Amino acid sequence: MCGIVGFVGRQQAAPILLDGLSKLEYRGYDSAGVAVVSPDGGIEVRKAKGRLQVLSDLIHGGADMDGRIGIGHTRWATHGAPSDVNSHPHVSEGGKFAVIHNGIIENYVEIKEFLIRQGVHFQSETDTEVVAQLLEFYYNECRDFFEAVGRVLRRIEGAYALGMLCADCPDRIIAARKDAPLLLGYGEGENFIASDVTALLKYTRDVAYMEDGEVAVLTTEGIKVFDALQQPVEKERHHVDWEAAAAEKGGYPHFMLKEIFEQPEALRRAISPRLKDGRIVFDDMKLTPERIRALSRVFIVACGSSYHVGMLGKYTLEHLTRRSVEVCLASEFRYADPIVDGNTLVIVISQSGETLDTMAALREAKARGAYVLSIVNVVGSSIARESDDVLYTWAGPEIAVATTKAYSTQLAVLDMLGLAFGEALGTVDAAEYAETVRELEKLPEKLETVLAHHEDIQKYAAEHFNHNSIFFIGRNLDYALGLEGSLKLKEISYIHSEAYASGELKHGTISLIEEGTLVVALGTYGKLFDKAMSNVVEVKARGAEVLALTTESRREERQKTVPNVLAVPDTADMLLPSLGVVPLQLFAYYVALQRGCDIDKPRNLAKSVTVE
Ligand code: M6R
Repeated sequence: MCGIVGFVGRQQAAPILLDGLSKLEYRGYDSAGVAVVSPDGGIEVRKAKGRLQVLSDLIHGGADMDGRIGIGHTRWATHGAPSDVNSHPHVSEGGKFAVIHNGIIENYVEIKEFLIRQGVHFQSETDTEVVAQLLEFYYNECRDFFEAVGRVLRRIEGAYALGMLCADCPDRIIAARKDAPLLLGYGEGENFIASDVTALLKYTRDVAYMEDGEVAVLTTEGIKVFDALQQPVEKERHHVDWEAAAAEKGGYPHFMLKEIFEQPEALRRAISPRLKDGRIVFDDMKLTPERIRALSRVFIVACGSSYHVGMLGKYTLEHLTRRSVEVCLASEFRYADPIVDGNTLVIVISQSGETLDTMAALREAKARGAYVLSIVNVVGSSIARESDDVLYTWAGPEIAVATTKAYSTQLAVLDMLGLAFGEALGTVDAAEYAETVRELEKLPEKLETVLAHHEDIQKYAAEHFNHNSIFFIGRNLDYALGLEGSLKLKEISYIHSEAYASGELKHGTISLIEEGTLVVALGTYGKLFDKAMSNVVEVKARGAEVLALTTESRREERQKTVPNVLAVPDTADMLLPSLGVVPLQLFAYYVALQRGCDIDKPRNLAKSVTVE
């Protein structure tokens, strides 16, 4: 979850490191630090608890640090509370090595005890410090930076992306990766490491993704990569076509709002290339119709909002393919002894493509023989590379911790996948297929009309931001949609919220409804509109204040029971959540704004969750 950046070149390193870290702060933001090899040969380290700005002020935007080679880090604390001393980089006792790390060194206690017995004194409570101290310990034996790194990597267990400096080798950074993202950036007379490509967009678009077990040596001359056996590896370079501006706020007060408003464009990019003459065509998919027909089981596996997309996908895929689909939280799938074989398809959904729980589930599925198809936003990410098939969502970089455009594009891709599977299996009704494809084409435009009414939602949020607890209720697709609305609200506004299947309320939870409780009643799905209305009447009878979400064609009918109604344009049933989610995203955003929350960097969270 931490952000990592490293630079070797001819310019002053610290300002470049700070700039790179500013693009990575969403990965973790409880402390930050940089280390440079200073011209007089020593390693200079500056670090501080708090946001990156605290560090930047401390070193005057980097001007105070003179080296041309350096490493930088933003932290999301795992071992040891956020504090100056626990911040990275960590330095060995003799001052020869500085280390930044993303991941967890699982056997750090044992190594720490070993080193303490050797007389080493530790400064921090972190697992990472053992890497710096162990490097110095082995270096004192072999006097070779690369060899010392090899010995450390053979000794440590767990997940890591590491950037390492050695005062005796002032021309290089050594980087290593296992189960945590790390990429190499190739420039002219300068080279980079980063945990995420957004840190590098301003400097280079030529990148290579490090694989597990690889070690890279970066100098101004180039980057040499070695496998776990220390044999040279020829890396395939990729050109990234994301615009540097895509990782900037572009006039919006928050990335989240910008990304909400980018959804029509993101949907166009996800949908248009896959619509040809009224049919869904996945040119980028290897899974053949024969293989689809041979499938005996389908799982959808993901975390957080991506899991909520999976919940919606279950309804649509089962409807379109008449096959049973199981949706699993990735963190549960791995340990659930899942029934998976060679005829099982596991659909993995992830914006970042780096979520460790999802990655672990993917590996579990593959080990059991499943075919893994992933729906991923970040090109070249670990999940994309390890899947048998990958469908990209093309949403562009998503920076806000609360996902919006990635959710919408994942959903569109999954809906299209359902239609394509339904066609391959001959289970989808031809008229429904044609109608849904027509509506898919119109989806970005309809979403624009939803966004055009953002002020109605802002007004409503301004009147209702003070609730302690908010319920989202709905049936079927609206229930799955409510899960996302509720998560959005709680993660950025810190209001307690629950999403419930409307019909389930009366089995216990309705006891929490009292005078003035806010209930967001989702009733976009026409087939269950009347039933959903009955549940609204039930909560109203217990004093709830209701905000209803429905479609334009039902607005009037709904207003008979509920005065506060938001409406989205009518569309094909399975596409309703794609429109319905936008008012919920905006509601969460404006409520959080009213409450003065740090919307893009909510407390305790990080964008990319690379620990279990
Ligand atoms: O990158 P992923 O899609 O794998 O991330 C999964 C979740 O961590 C993510 O959706 C999380 O729930 C978001 N913060 C929700 O807004």
